[in-house]
Amino acid sequence: MKKIFKSTIKPGKSIVGVGLQYGDEGKIKIFDQVVPKNTDIWARFNGGSNAGHNLQCGNLEIITHAVPSFFPQPNSLGYIGSGCVVNAAKIWSEIEEITVKGFPLQRRLFISPKCTLIQPHHVLIDQNGGKEVGTTGNGIGPAYADQAQRQLEEKLKNIRLGDYLKESERMKEHVRANLEEVCGQYGLAMDTETCLEQFDEAVQRLAGYVAWDSLFLLDLVEAGKNVFFEGANSVLLDAVVGDVPYVTSSRTLAVAAYTGGDLSVDFHNKTIGVAKAIVSRVGNGPFITELGGRESEEYCKVDGGKKYVKEVEKKMYNVKDLLHSGNLHDLGIALRMLGGEYGATTCRPRRIGMLDLVMLRESCRSNGVKELYINKFDCLTQFSRSSLPGIPVVTAYELDGKKIDYVPSTTSEMYRAKPVIEYFPHIKEDISSVRRTEDLPETIMKFIGEIENAVGVPVYGIGVGPRREEFVRLK
Ligand code: IMP
Repeated sequence: MKKIFKSTIKPGKSIVGVGLQYGDEGKIKIFDQVVPKNTDIWARFNGGSNAGHNLQCGNLEIITHAVPSFFPQPNSLGYIGSGCVVNAAKIWSEIEEITVKGFPLQRRLFISPKCTLIQPHHVLIDQNGGKEVGTTGNGIGPAYADQAQRQLEEKLKNIRLGDYLKESERMKEHVRANLEEVCGQYGLAMDTETCLEQFDEAVQRLAGYVAWDSLFLLDLVEAGKNVFFEGANSVLLDAVVGDVPYVTSSRTLAVAAYTGGDLSVDFHNKTIGVAKAIVSRVGNGPFITELGGRESEEYCKVDGGKKYVKEVEKKMYNVKDLLHSGNLHDLGIALRMLGGEYGATTCRPRRIGMLDLVMLRESCRSNGVKELYINKFDCLTQFSRSSLPGIPVVTAYELDGKKIDYVPSTTSEMYRAKPVIEYFPHIKEDISSVRRTEDLPETIMKFIGEIENAVGVPVYGIGVGPRREEFVRLK
């Protein structure tokens, strides 16, 4: 008998959702389908405006960066936990856009007063010094660095939202000192006064959204409300266990939901993870399964990633030629163009790689993933238009002449590791209109079975197209 999918969330419990690769897995599309509609609170626990989430609200598309994805559900609340860093001006403009599009957020969105503020000097440092990592330029790293630095002699480095609101005049002087110091270091001429005024105005606007009680979320959950923690930036970009320094600066693992989301681990129910069948990475750093290897990495970082944007590649290339060229870098460009793989936050071209089962297994294991969802399954059909003998899947690596079945733990080893590729039978059918498991071709069901065996986690659903409803629930 066919199992009926029933996703549930128990009262007083939490579910954590994370991306299992390098970000941009299409997490929100999946969360929107599988997070139970009766979820009371959607909470963010890490990062800031570096994330980019495409939300479909009826006919409207809203791209959010820092605001949790709760607002299309009429009875849900949103919470930005203390693990996040807040760019007040950016959050405010998101709030305005969401409000204009029909979703007023007053008394629905709550922000922890303990969130570290992204100060103007953080953005300057990031934009001047973040090129090698390939950051989004939002000041995320410098803000987390100052959070750890706390105070340096008389200079207050970490300024939190609540502290600023309660002592604005004193805090503003610290923001000024930090800004002037960095302008001096980089030799930047800047209208400091206007910048400080704008910063102050933006922070003050958030006052009505602050949840002053630091046990805000805990109180709600203890009273029986349930919460979904919406991971941002994905687990392979974790500040500590990712490929340092090519990572973001927050903890992105599922377990960070509890420190950054201000709830006790006691309430954890389960973790769900989202991957995609053709992997992508934006920014620099090792990417073992990248089509075209270092050539692709170098190409994608020209002009800080600003050169080969969507419109430029569209004018430069013919997709058919790229697919047939027999060159893996060309194939990567073709898959990027066909899959629309350009950054939602920065518009940069995303580097494209093969499905990596070694990494996916480790991501699932280290995050305790119980339900796996895989997006972009339909894109696998593109390989049948290429000269490859099948769908390339990485099942092991070769490191310094030795075959290994684990992810190396240093960044230099990650760069040296080579993918061991197995080819799975091509999928030729167009599956974008399929909605039921029984309508999926046998080749796909077999392929999913192979993934489950290799990864050790059941695949609960697959994405078969970019739209929200283009999704097949398997369990
Ligand atoms: P930062 O988070 O802006 O400091 O950027 C550090 C690295 O993480 C860069 O390679 C970014 O491209 C990457 N990154 C940060 N957030 C995301 C995301 O939401 N999706 C994909 N990549 C991200």
